[in-house]
Amino acid sequence: MRVLGIETSCDETGVAIYDTEHGLLAHRLHSQIAMHIDYGGVVPELASRDHIRRMVPLVREVMAEANTAADQLTGIAYTAGPGLAGALLTGAMFARSLAYAWSLPAVGVHHMEGHLLAPLLEPKPPAFPFVALLVSGGHTQLMRVDGIGRYELLGESIDDAAGEAFDKVAKMLGLDYPGGPQVAKWAQQGDAKAFKFPRPMLDRPGLDFSFSGLKTAVLTARDQTPDYPNRLADICASFEDAVVDTLLRKCLRALQQTGLKRLVLAGGVSANKRLRQVLAERLQAIGGEAYYPAPAFCTDNGAMIAFAGAQRLVAGESVDLVVTVRARWPMTELAAV
Ligand code: KG4
Ligand code: ZN
Repeated sequence: MRVLGIETSCDETGVAIYDTEHGLLAHRLHSQIAMHIDYGGVVPELASRDHIRRMVPLVREVMAEANTAADQLTGIAYTAGPGLAGALLTGAMFARSLAYAWSLPAVGVHHMEGHLLAPLLEPKPPAFPFVALLVSGGHTQLMRVDGIGRYELLGESIDDAAGEAFDKVAKMLGLDYPGGPQVAKWAQQGDAKAFKFPRPMLDRPGLDFSFSGLKTAVLTARDQTPDYPNRLADICASFEDAVVDTLLRKCLRALQQTGLKRLVLAGGVSANKRLRQVLAERLQAIGGEAYYPAPAFCTDNGAMIAFAGAQRLVAGESVDLVVTVRARWPMTELAAV
């Protein structure tokens, strides 16, 4: 089975072709960062319009690179949610129309299932069951994963997502959007012990997260540090340390609670080098193993949508001609494969 995957849930147009026998054949990404940077964040209407501009050229490029003609495809997968409704609709309408024109089945993929399954694209994929930490701009969730579509929510953020906290802190500190990579870059030159930031909700039982108090603590630190601009790296490093430490300890708690030893890290924040390193080291120390996507497939991309779509198409799933997208969509509503 050979599947064309299309991702347009936010500010990246991602297109890829995944083959269930030969693996990932081609992938392309157009990031809209340069377009949104002056606004300090994603402008939804601009995002939708840009997806429309990019889609046809990107599809042509991946088809050429994968040496694939329309009649060699078995299906088309697109992100059906969660995300920005307008942006989702551009990809969904395009993908569904193309599938109709080429007489192919189409399938709507859950964006976070795409992220969750991205580590399965790697040469050494994790076996089920495992615990997954999903950390993106809109979600922070711990899941028990027993198979594709068999997800049990163990805990989630009660306010900001981890990526959102990175983005908001970056904005407070005068750094550009998207904030995560900027904060991480500054953090590399800073002292993580310089500021004592809270580790929210670690003193309480359970697996939920909260990042809004940490954000306020960073704001206070900024305002109470007289030589603040010179301490930017230290603030970034101490903030990153607080997020990584909180995520690590909740992951260890989830592994203990489920009795599992495999941890999968996915979503945009899984690109964070320090988080990857700390989780890998701690998992090794307890005889477990951490798995994560290649850096290019941590943030939004078409490969994860082609892959997740292929799994669902293989299982016989497809959508009819009515195109629906969902801005909000709990992952636990997905059907097991
Ligand atoms: O998964 P993603 O590309 O989009 C969503 O589904 O939300 O995640 C984007 C998020 C942003 O909040 C961004 O700041 C964060 O991932 N991010 C990072 C890093 N790279 C991206 N956060 C921390 N460190 C990074 N290196
Ligand atoms: Zn994403």
